[in-house]
Amino acid sequence: MTVRFQQSAPATFKLAQEKDWSSTRIAIRGFQLRPKVYVTRLLPEVAMERINSFCDADVWRGELPPSREVILRKARDVEGLVCLLTDKIDAELMSEAPNLRVISNCAAGFDNIDIAEATKRRIVVGNTPDVLTETTADFTFALMMAAARRVVEGDRSVRGGGWKTWGPMILLGQDVHGATLGIVGLGRIGAAVARRAKGFGMRVLYYSRTRRTEVETELGVRYAEFDRLLGESDFITLHVNLSRETFHLIGKKQFEKMKKTCVLVNTSRGQVVDNMALYEALRVGSIAFAALDVTEPEPIPADHPLLTLQNLIITPHIASASMKTRTEMALIAAENLIAGLKGELPLHAVNPEVLGHC
Ligand code: DGY
Repeated sequence: MTVRFQQSAPATFKLAQEKDWSSTRIAIRGFQLRPKVYVTRLLPEVAMERINSFCDADVWRGELPPSREVILRKARDVEGLVCLLTDKIDAELMSEAPNLRVISNCAAGFDNIDIAEATKRRIVVGNTPDVLTETTADFTFALMMAAARRVVEGDRSVRGGGWKTWGPMILLGQDVHGATLGIVGLGRIGAAVARRAKGFGMRVLYYSRTRRTEVETELGVRYAEFDRLLGESDFITLHVNLSRETFHLIGKKQFEKMKKTCVLVNTSRGQVVDNMALYEALRVGSIAFAALDVTEPEPIPADHPLLTLQNLIITPHIASASMKTRTEMALIAAENLIAGLKGELPLHAVNPEVLGHC
């Protein structure tokens, strides 16, 4: 094991109660062993600097994610892992990583991590919500507008030499203003989308596991049972976490309940929509259009049937991809990592109970 020293321990360093860290983190005459961490992708420089200021970091520099074998091997002797939603952090990996005590996901979602297993092993898991809320809501709106007004088709037509004249019936789309928007999942991002929709004069319905009466009053949105929302909305946008309950939440039956003119937008997780049912719904016209930032799987294979359709826009999971937001996400991931390594509660901990917080 490579041993690197950092002068003086951080003042706030605390040992976690339940584990004996003595073999992995030892103070010797004022010098402290720097915790070894593995970072599965190069993050913005400020975040890397922050990680390097406290840790001995091994970083995967490839453009594509490290293979499963590489992550398994690298995790073996680290105390911290900074990972992305492309990395599957499961029970097998945790069992191969006896020293692991912090998993810092550089994403708001954490469906790539087995949280129950991490909690059982007293590994704290951090994520990066909040900072991406407005950016993701902006992008959701961009997709909705682009789909409604056929922006991508227009661009394709011009580039392909299809623009011959101004025509009264060319690329007619749908109005966003005055339309009904159905929001599935009224969490932070769903509410941020609702706020934008109100600015566009839309009627907003939402469906959520728990009714959010305070948000209803604040934003002027109305709760609707799921089926009613499906049937009444001109646009439907998905903002749920991926879980057993939300896996393929939108499938054949749900498409049959939607308006033929409906536009479906998904910036949540690909698995929330049954892709083949979506393909069929778009092909036969049971809905008009879909705009997806997320797919199942990611990336979607180039020969996937969905990609043969014209009434579909797909972007490569970039809803949170503004320079500012991605930098902030990486910085939070770095801070979550460091706090967890110090035995402190990270700013955003998915399982704070590991550190004695509820
Ligand atoms: C997240 O953070 O979960 C997003 O999907 C990344 O854009």
